[in-house]
Amino acid sequence: MQFRRTLMEPLLQVDQLTVTFGGIVALRDVDLRVMSGRTTAILGPNGAGKTTLFNAVAGVVTPSSGRILLGDADISAERPSIRSKRGIARTFQITQPFSGLTVIENVMVAIVSRGVGMAEARDEAADYVDFVGLGAKLDAPARTLSTGQRKRLELARALATRPRLLLLDEVTGGVDRPSIPEILDLIRRLREERGITVLVVEHNMEVLFGLADDAIFLNRGEVVVRGSMQEVAEHDAVRRIYLGDGDA
Ligand SMILES: Nc1ncnc2c1ncn2[C@@H]1O[C@H](COP(=O)(O)OP(=O)(O)OP(=O)(O)O)[C@@H](O)[C@H]1O
Ligand SMILES: [Mg+2]
Repeated sequence: MQFRRTLMEPLLQVDQLTVTFGGIVALRDVDLRVMSGRTTAILGPNGAGKTTLFNAVAGVVTPSSGRILLGDADISAERPSIRSKRGIARTFQITQPFSGLTVIENVMVAIVSRGVGMAEARDEAADYVDFVGLGAKLDAPARTLSTGQRKRLELARALATRPRLLLLDEVTGGVDRPSIPEILDLIRRLREERGITVLVVEHNMEVLFGLADDAIFLNRGEVVVRGSMQEVAEHDAVRRIYLGDGDA
């Protein structure tokens, strides 16, 4: 019975979350439950509050009200570094590698900050770099990478924190079309091989259909629709926004 209960409980639970910036309400009373081992899409037009939701979960913006739970733990008041130690990792809409460091050094930074020694960190970093398909670029300076390669490096850096919950903000944004399927394959493998629960912000519906189980659609900071990826994609409000979008 205990086992069954664990399976039914959400890994991440967001209750009545409100975030304001001056006079702007970026999120209003947002509720979200992310089940362990599932991939959940956060949909919505520009300015809907998707990145703000990630920032609130990661702990880099302070909500004016609401609660965030990871498993049984109320993490609402915890600093980002503590949330990272608990297993929350994220990638950024605009990638932010240390451009003067090499690929492997970028990943090592995240491992060393967990308290691991240099030699061991190098071995572990090499695994993540291989996993994301950048093995040939191990010693290349991060500034020489293409957009797609930078997105892969972001993933490797996120993996280096050993996440249970991974927040991916527009991981295919700006990536050339031929490189997208490989990145999607990587994300699927995160779940299948590493058991990581994924929350994904992504504008490309085609991409999401191959990736997400569940979805919420935000508009102006409020949840308009929630359900399976299929249900949400078929909802009128969602179709209005995404149909006619040349990228979708
Ligand atoms: N640090 C900030 N200071 C002031 N306003 C902010 C800040 N971050 C976000 N906002 C505002 O909050 C609202 C939600 O922004 P957010 O970046 O979360 O949207 P988004 O859904 O990620 O959009 P996009 O698809 O363009 O990335 C917008 O009105 C935005 O201008
Ligand atoms: Mg955003």
